[in-house]
Amino acid sequence: MTDKWIVRLLMAAAVLFCASASAAGGGKLQQAGNDLGDQASLQRGAQAYMSYCSACHSLKYLRYSRMAEDLGLSEEQVMKNLNFTGAAYGEQIQVSMPHDAATKWFGKMPPDLSLISRVRGSDWIYSYLKSFYLDESRPLGWNNTVFPNASMPNPLWELQGIQHPIHGKAEQAGIDPPVVGFTLGQPGKVDPRQYDQTVRDITNFLEYAGEPAALKRQSLGVWVILFLALLTFLAYLVKTEYWKDVH
Ligand code: HEC
Repeated sequence: MTDKWIVRLLMAAAVLFCASASAAGGGKLQQAGNDLGDQASLQRGAQAYMSYCSACHSLKYLRYSRMAEDLGLSEEQVMKNLNFTGAAYGEQIQVSMPHDAATKWFGKMPPDLSLISRVRGSDWIYSYLKSFYLDESRPLGWNNTVFPNASMPNPLWELQGIQHPIHGKAEQAGIDPPVVGFTLGQPGKVDPRQYDQTVRDITNFLEYAGEPAALKRQSLGVWVILFLALLTFLAYLVKTEYWKDVH
């Protein structure tokens, strides 16, 4: 194979990679812009998650103790502010809601969210939490443009306020017109910019929960690079030493 061909192959691979990355984004999703390295954001996200989501959703692969260690929190902080079920420090984050009640209210058990960021992606979660709107035709009065007819009511409506849909043109007669945007019917406790930040923090926390080892890996990565750099340097020294007398 000539060099030209190798370059072409590499370019094709790059194009394919970019195309699949944007396809996974779904086009319409908003970018979460979260940062796993931002510990304050992770802490705020954990707090918001425990307050607004943990009544319905478990994180059964994450233990309170692990979360404390990874997020730089003390045992006391976690047990006092983030543990609402009375579980022991070393236990996983389970829900307190009984299965029967959940199926009666929502038609199903709210899913465990340990791996949700890997299944749906962070941009999806971020966009989903921003896309609830009032819809009288739904059993609980809420609908969502990112996850149409989701059986989850907007858990953050007090913060966000209540969004009403703006309808576009129906493509065909007899089909509901699509929702193309929102108006804020009733303002929430925080302004839209702060709301976005809270949703970003929750998304960040869920991305962490999906792969707690990623935090360690990020800091480990720096050491690996340093180690490789050192190794290269040593190899260079050895090489010059060996070749010194060969002329
Ligand atoms: C009152 C109970 C309740 C609360 C509180 C709640 N959820 Fe849900 N959630 C549900 C139910 C029920 C579903 C299943 C929706 C469906 O499949 O129709 C769901 C689904 C989801 C999904 C989609 C899962 C999938 O199938 O892809 C995500 C993501 C999610 N919830 C995140 C959250 C977050 C984040 C919070 C807190 C901000 C939260 N939920 C609070 C009940 C709840």
